[in-house]
Amino acid sequence: MPQAKIYYDTDADLGVLNNKTIVFLGFGNQGSAQAQNLRDTGIPNEQILIANRVDSYAETAKAKGFNVTHDFGKAAAVADVLFILIPDQVQPRVFNEQFSPVMKSSAVIVVASGYNVFFNLLKFQPGQDVVMVAPRMIGSSVRSLYEKGRGFPCFVSVEQDGTGNGWASALALSRGIGATKAGAIASSVREETAMDLMAEQALWPNIIMMFREAFNVLKDAGCSDEALCYEMWMSKEPAEIFERAADDGFIAQLKHHSTVSQFGQLSGSLKLGGEAMREHFKDILYNQILNGKFTKEFSKIEDDLEKEGLDNPLNELYRRSEEIELVQAEKRVRARLAGLL
Ligand code: NAI
Repeated sequence: MPQAKIYYDTDADLGVLNNKTIVFLGFGNQGSAQAQNLRDTGIPNEQILIANRVDSYAETAKAKGFNVTHDFGKAAAVADVLFILIPDQVQPRVFNEQFSPVMKSSAVIVVASGYNVFFNLLKFQPGQDVVMVAPRMIGSSVRSLYEKGRGFPCFVSVEQDGTGNGWASALALSRGIGATKAGAIASSVREETAMDLMAEQALWPNIIMMFREAFNVLKDAGCSDEALCYEMWMSKEPAEIFERAADDGFIAQLKHHSTVSQFGQLSGSLKLGGEAMREHFKDILYNQILNGKFTKEFSKIEDDLEKEGLDNPLNELYRRSEEIELVQAEKRVRARLAGLL
């Protein structure tokens, strides 16, 4: 099996960033965390420029002492390095129209998610470096772990090495934001996208479906809404199990459960061959994700995601999902609990 290379602080030379103008497009979850980490690593504030439209994120960046511009053309022209840290669905429009045409032909472009690069939705120039530095953490954790002097899991890759120095830049930038402290894992936009979208489109939909159906069967068997909601998720037991899985091991965490539970879980899971599920997962991976079918369909509804009410397809999916018995029961339970408080 392939073993991924892991890069540490000692593999990265921050000197590569000397005198480079580093532009952050976006100061949201990731942008604010990464820009602050980079500055605290010692990259001078005057080398960092936040490019942000006029909104509260821009105000936050100014309040934190960063240089901020609303003029994307100006930011694009001066960028030696550009971190693209705005939502994935708006990146192609903003980058392709306002950044790409005026950027330096040797600039380093950094993405924190593989999606737009893997599906060729961003237009790069051939001499540019395109690198992925993708924290596996929400932005607030990227910042708080850095502040505690700890690292965070992160994927790093070079997707286009236009200058020949792509890896040196990718590693220096990873180190700058604190990602090589605990080890940045060599990956690729293909791997990152496949894993992300598989979790979102195959694994978690099945988990949601399994909770829904287990709920229905137990409810039909006479279990109360209150007991079911607490037993299944409101007690936070599933969250604890996953925390133990991360700390002790995916299967080893079972040792914290009762003997009856351990026996039931181990024998039960081994009895389920999983062939049908494996075929279903493969179908989603190859015929929905990697072949671009999902991306094509998603791009058709992207504009509608800005709409209000049920014209927004996401709101319509929430409406339909809220009709299921599990959600209705949970609402009743939460309303009763609120009354008791
Ligand atoms: P976010 O949702 O926090 O982005 C907000 C920022 O985008 C603000 O600066 C806002 O001004 C700007 N923005 C929003 N719409 C805009 C538009 N139409 N035009 C110009 N600017 C606009 O973004 P987030 O969550 O930080 O994601 C950025 C990147 O990081 C994405 O590629 C995402 O996949 C990746 N990522 C996000 C993680 C997270 O914790 N949310 C975790 C790891 C990667």
